[in-house]
Amino acid sequence: MYVLGIETSCDETAAAVVGPSPDGAGSVVLADVIHSQEVHAEYGGVVPELASRSHAEKVVVTTRAALARAGIERPDVVAATAGPGLLGAVLVGLCYGKSLSAGFGVPFVGVNHLEGHLLSPLLEPDAPAWPFLALVVSGGHTTLYLARALGDYEVLASTVDDAAGEAYDKVSRMLGEGYPGGPILDRMAVGGDPTARELPRPVVRDRDSRAPTLDWSFSGLKTAVRQWLEADRVVSGADVARCFQDAVVDVLVDRVLRAADATGVRALAVSGGVAANSALRARLLDLHEAGRLRVTLPPRSRCTDNGAMIAHAGRLHALAGHLDPLDLGARAQWTPGT
Ligand code: KG4
Ligand code: ZN
Repeated sequence: MYVLGIETSCDETAAAVVGPSPDGAGSVVLADVIHSQEVHAEYGGVVPELASRSHAEKVVVTTRAALARAGIERPDVVAATAGPGLLGAVLVGLCYGKSLSAGFGVPFVGVNHLEGHLLSPLLEPDAPAWPFLALVVSGGHTTLYLARALGDYEVLASTVDDAAGEAYDKVSRMLGEGYPGGPILDRMAVGGDPTARELPRPVVRDRDSRAPTLDWSFSGLKTAVRQWLEADRVVSGADVARCFQDAVVDVLVDRVLRAADATGVRALAVSGGVAANSALRARLLDLHEAGRLRVTLPPRSRCTDNGAMIAHAGRLHALAGHLDPLDLGARAQWTPGT
């Protein structure tokens, strides 16, 4: 089964084709085409209306390129992101995907963008077996799931305020740097002094028992960076990036290790834009080598938004017989597995 996947939920217009692996047991990516919108850089964040317009301009050519590269004229199934994301942006790819499904006369699957991230490590040669812990760290979400089976995901931890990627983007703006902030701070942090300032590692407590939960909070960390910048007129951007990044990586890894202890599940699949972060990757690989976790870490291009993850998730659902009607609507909020 060859599946065309279309992704337009944020600021990447992406299309990909995923088919059976040579042994038939898994999936392989035959083509993965991405157009990253640059129009948002000068605004320091994604402008929804500009995103929708740019998707409308690029979705046809991007999809044609993916089919041509894969050497496929007519896929067996069309999948498109149906949410969560910017509604206007999601609608462009969703409507186009549904019309292609009708035009080709093939089934349609509406994919949850977060489930696309969550399942994307299964495309890797060292894919985890079920059950596994799935850390999805992106610009809009930071969630740790216990993934038991396709469609069966328990949320073990999530952020109570900003997402990790969002915190990166906001700190980058405070430093007068560009958008998206993650890759910029990742590079800046290399020359920074990790002892320049002790930033907080915020803990979220249960409202009744006051016991620490597995959840994250990033807004206090962001405020601590702002206070540092206000108090210190001459501050090195590299030091800020390094201290901030160390704090983010510490809290992400802390919750993962505690969840692994609590569940006894040591397999960890990491995805989402922040999974492209060098420091997080290095820390997780150390834990893998030390035998504390069994980590599947997709290449950077598969961590940030892409079409392959949508085609792949669509393929798994189509193989399981989960198809959607052509009147499926877009959803701004959507918990995977619901
Ligand atoms: O998954 P993604 O491409 O889009 C969403 O679904 O949100 O994630 C984008 C986020 C942005 O906030 C960006 O700053 C962050 O991922 N990001 C990074 C890195 N690359 C992208 N954060 C830290 N380090 C990176 N290398
Ligand atoms: Zn994403």
